[in-house]
Amino acid sequence: MSATIRDSLKASLIRASMAPETRARLSELTLLQQTDSTNTAILRMPPERQHAHALLADRQTAGRGRRQRTWHSPPGGNIYLSLGWRFRKAGIPLSNLPLVVAVTVCRALDRAGLRGHGIKWPNDILFEGKKLAGILVESRSASSEPALAVIGIGLNVRMPPSDAHAGTSGIDRPWTDLGSALGPEIDLKSRNQLVALLLEALLDALEDFEQNGFDRFRPAWRDFDILAGQKIILEQDNGRIEGVARGVDRDGGLLVEIAESDVRAFHSADVSVHYD
Ligand code: BTN
Repeated sequence: MSATIRDSLKASLIRASMAPETRARLSELTLLQQTDSTNTAILRMPPERQHAHALLADRQTAGRGRRQRTWHSPPGGNIYLSLGWRFRKAGIPLSNLPLVVAVTVCRALDRAGLRGHGIKWPNDILFEGKKLAGILVESRSASSEPALAVIGIGLNVRMPPSDAHAGTSGIDRPWTDLGSALGPEIDLKSRNQLVALLLEALLDALEDFEQNGFDRFRPAWRDFDILAGQKIILEQDNGRIEGVARGVDRDGGLLVEIAESDVRAFHSADVSVHYD
């Protein structure tokens, strides 16, 4: 039986797998067979339908990643999920929201039975150095109004075999999927159960973040930070810098020790680990 038939996404099953209090906080749950990008689909909606609206597609034809990359989104086995969220108060700093979401996805993966995964700043979820999930947070705000954030999560659950061959996957970096990462001993939950875990964790985290800010997530960030203490290379538009990763600052910037007593924060860069 193909993965598509065995593991199709179903709104009733996602809702049934969620705790009633969390389920009540979701205003809409939309499942599409196909869309260009689930983030774009939420951004296109009228404002009154965006808040607490979770939208999933089995396939994306123009899935988007960070830094103008594309997110390879074949049908049948993965999760492409976006959640719209309008904050109640204006002026909440959202620069560290992508990090909060990364911690939240890691917690949901813990609950799915995975161990050993972590975050490569700012929000790549890796397992054994390979990409397992990606996060794209897009926000719209005018200073006087509460901001809208669209939180997009792409989780490789079971990459279809035809996409797993080198050269046909359209993915230019090492990647893995949850089925392979869990291995044969741990049962892979259905996509519906995994979506429920992600949504529960996200809805709780957003309330917590809104009330208490990033400080609340800092200890968990440290637990999942796979760069801390590592020699890294930062690629920026204006050049390349080497240093040692030293965690993140209050705005979610990556702290890098360039030389003794010279630690600087970076807010936008491509990071790779430097092996001697
Ligand atoms: C990255 O690592 O570059 C971020 C990838 C984010 C992919 C997800 S899939 C669901 C949502 N819709 C999109 O078009 N992108 C995000």
